[in-house]
Amino acid sequence: MALSSPLQNLSSLISAHGIATATAKAPSRHQYAVHAAASDTATTVEVGSYEEGKLVRPKWTGETPLSRMVRALISFKPLYSILKLGARQVLISTAEKNNIPWREMTKEILESQVYKEMDTIQNHSLVYPDYYLNPFHAYDEGNLTWLAAAEAEAATKSMVRRAIPNASSIDEATQILRGNWLQAIEQHHLQHSQTSMISDILDIGCSVGVSSRCLADKFPTANVTGLDLSPYFLAVAQHKEKRGAPRKNPIKWIHANGEDTGLPSKSFDLVSIAYVFHECPARAIVNVVKEAFRLLRPGGTLAMTDNSPKSKVLQELSPVLFTLMKSTEPFLDEYYLTDMDETLMEAGFVNITSILTNPRHVTLTATVPQ
Ligand SMILES: C[S@@+](CC[C@H](N)C(=O)[O-])C[C@H]1O[C@@H](n2cnc3c(N)ncnc32)[C@H](O)[C@@H]1O
Repeated sequence: MALSSPLQNLSSLISAHGIATATAKAPSRHQYAVHAAASDTATTVEVGSYEEGKLVRPKWTGETPLSRMVRALISFKPLYSILKLGARQVLISTAEKNNIPWREMTKEILESQVYKEMDTIQNHSLVYPDYYLNPFHAYDEGNLTWLAAAEAEAATKSMVRRAIPNASSIDEATQILRGNWLQAIEQHHLQHSQTSMISDILDIGCSVGVSSRCLADKFPTANVTGLDLSPYFLAVAQHKEKRGAPRKNPIKWIHANGEDTGLPSKSFDLVSIAYVFHECPARAIVNVVKEAFRLLRPGGTLAMTDNSPKSKVLQELSPVLFTLMKSTEPFLDEYYLTDMDETLMEAGFVNITSILTNPRHVTLTATVPQ
């Protein structure tokens, strides 16, 4: 247990950091006045009181000396193993300090009937992209395990808590983070799509279904499909959905690669990609964006939400925190170096609009031309 003391310190540092960054307020509804012109140029929209930093991206990302130094530290195997273990322990203890019952939530899933969902979910002919078979988030088998699937919802709650540290509860933080994201999507679609109806929604990288359920609750008349590469995550999504209140339009779950879904062209009005791209190499980001363009009907909306390179909070993250984060997120640098506006424009999207929907995350919305 030689690690326990420094790890406890890290854990307190993370909690303290959460409190120290509690300065931004949730924007009210009217702060969402979107001023993007209906043109084919990229437009950045200032929203509410979420603050941008002075840099294009944090100094700890990309090709800066600091970023290279952190990368070199992480690639030193003995240190990586310690960091990986540390990152995991810190994540769990920080979550529990913030009233997220990580261990109970995990146990409940692992001791449930979730395993029987696998048979109806798994696509045995799916070939996984190479990047997906690497260790990830401190799990040696990445997202392809029951433990990663059972812990995913608690990890999502922790992410939400870190993003909105000044909320009075996890539920309030979730309402702010997911509510602002959904509102940005709705406003974009209303403003830029001639047919304001959203009938078919695809949630690429749906994980254990949290984002898909939010979309289904917001757009109850739409058919929602959650798609992910991990059959374990999808099994948890289906298991949880079966235990919830029945829906008029049940969510469908598809085990596929978002880069090449095999779904028919022009079959969706909204494609959502929430918190996926920071986990992907640049080539996968480009492929998923192109696939979303193919899948959307003319006038359809793409919505991507993820870490904002311009977030003041992320730019000012402490060295301990960003080193820990980078140790379990192998593609973070590639994500931060990807110009998302340009990627969307090159795929053919118009009305590209970016909004900081909470202190850490940007929501990018765009339209397929009519
Ligand atoms: C952080 S989770 C997404 C969380 C979820 N969308 C939400 O908002 O709560 C990222 C997900 O992307 C999935 N993913 C990564 N690459 C993918 C790809 N090429 N196709 C489909 N899913 C992918 C992972 O399996 C993982 O479940």
